[in-house]
Amino acid sequence: MLYDNNPTIEGVKTMDEAIQGSVFFKENTATGTIPGIKYFYIESYGCQMNFSDSEIVASILGDVGYAPTRNMEESDLILVNTCSIREKAEETVRKRLKIFELIKKRRPGMKVGVLGCMAERLKKQWLEEEKLVDLVVGPDAYRDLPNLIGAAEEGGRMINVLLSREETYADISPVRLESNGVTAFISIMRGCDNMCSFCVVPFTRGRERSRDPYSVVAEANDLFQKGYREVTLLGQNVDSYKWNNPETNEHTDFGDLLAMTAAVHPDLRVRFSTSHPKDMTDKVLHTMAAHDNICKYIHLPVQSGSSRILEMMNRTYDRAWYMNRMDSIRRILPDAAVSSDIITGFCSETEVDHQDTLSIIEWSGYCMSYMFSYSERPGTLAARKYPDDVPEDTKKRRLTEVINLQRSISLNCNRKDIGKTFRVLIERDSSKSSAEFCGRNSQNSMCVFPKKAGLKPGDYVNVKIFDANSATLLGEIV
Ligand code: 5AD
Ligand code: SF4
Repeated sequence: MLYDNNPTIEGVKTMDEAIQGSVFFKENTATGTIPGIKYFYIESYGCQMNFSDSEIVASILGDVGYAPTRNMEESDLILVNTCSIREKAEETVRKRLKIFELIKKRRPGMKVGVLGCMAERLKKQWLEEEKLVDLVVGPDAYRDLPNLIGAAEEGGRMINVLLSREETYADISPVRLESNGVTAFISIMRGCDNMCSFCVVPFTRGRERSRDPYSVVAEANDLFQKGYREVTLLGQNVDSYKWNNPETNEHTDFGDLLAMTAAVHPDLRVRFSTSHPKDMTDKVLHTMAAHDNICKYIHLPVQSGSSRILEMMNRTYDRAWYMNRMDSIRRILPDAAVSSDIITGFCSETEVDHQDTLSIIEWSGYCMSYMFSYSERPGTLAARKYPDDVPEDTKKRRLTEVINLQRSISLNCNRKDIGKTFRVLIERDSSKSSAEFCGRNSQNSMCVFPKKAGLKPGDYVNVKIFDANSATLLGEIV
């Protein structure tokens, strides 16, 4: 997902064309810039929301004459959209800054900006500690970028980390960076009001606010007209999406928004992330069941299988509640796949708690999980309340056990698909061979299959599966 492989830009004639990410980022063509255009280079880390924000930033910069480049050596502005969720994510960004420093030595006029969660978390500390950094801009301040860049060009070192209760960037049309022209993200809300004790997000992204549903539908419609065939509705907790039209008093919840987006076109697939076990309603599940084009896939992070740990994590559900939500999914959507996030080694976690996590992973039969060892984040509830007392090697050993268990479940899950036929949306060439396409089925499993003449990304095909590993289904078009 990073634009650091020195690719190229050719066949770009106009500014408009230049800022269309999909045109601009043509692979394997000659390098060259267009006189009179300023270039920005952006790297994004962390969650899908951050990648989506970078597309909003690209749009705001496009309006003031900046075009994206994947070649940082020719950029006038390097931006890094950062993540604070774990210490390692922050370390990665610090390492990248060392590289940017080398580039800046060769391009003295170039500016460097830190965006996103680390900008918000560390604020003016950046300007004190990193001489390289010219701009520090938090997730709610991107509209101010043109002013801040202007002042930086005059020699200032600028910061805006104000959080907002209203900003949703609803009126900004994102410039699709790194796009395959088939799948796109749409942010439907920002911020988070859940106070999970391990999590830095409420501090870096502020209060939860939802975006006008009609602007979401308009964006989905526009994407469909441009040839996109799948949208993923993004929010930290999509189930708490809520919108009240002040004029009509019309109320829209997430189930309503899903149905409205699904109505754009039967050939536009709708996905969403992330669901929260405390808020996911049966109404959402019934809405999914009622629309063929809402994908039968739910990312429903459990975090831990121990009710005691869940309480300390302030997740506001327990093991039984989570299992009840899983039961509802199985009843209402028997074909749905579920994935999860797991944290090992949270404060005071015992071997018994850990076994509870392993057993809920097994019981839930997740098709996939994102698995992490606990990383204490300064300022969070857990950092203030509980000692980070599980030794590092125990955290890592438990993480390995979780990963091994998940891998074997994923493999079994995928093997069960052998012999089945799925409707697959072709996304792109497979990474291994240009003779093969890849694309996902409704359950979000990646399928790889030989190409057939006349087909292209954005087309739907039926693929019969004949083999599987823990990550991919192998099949052929039928
Ligand atoms: N340590 C480890 N993992 C974390 N996550 C969030 N905060 C932390 C932390 N401090 C994980 C959670 C969350 C996912 C996005 O990242 O599992 O769901
Ligand atoms: Fe996304 Fe959370 Fe990382 Fe911020 S801290 S980029 S919200 S994962």
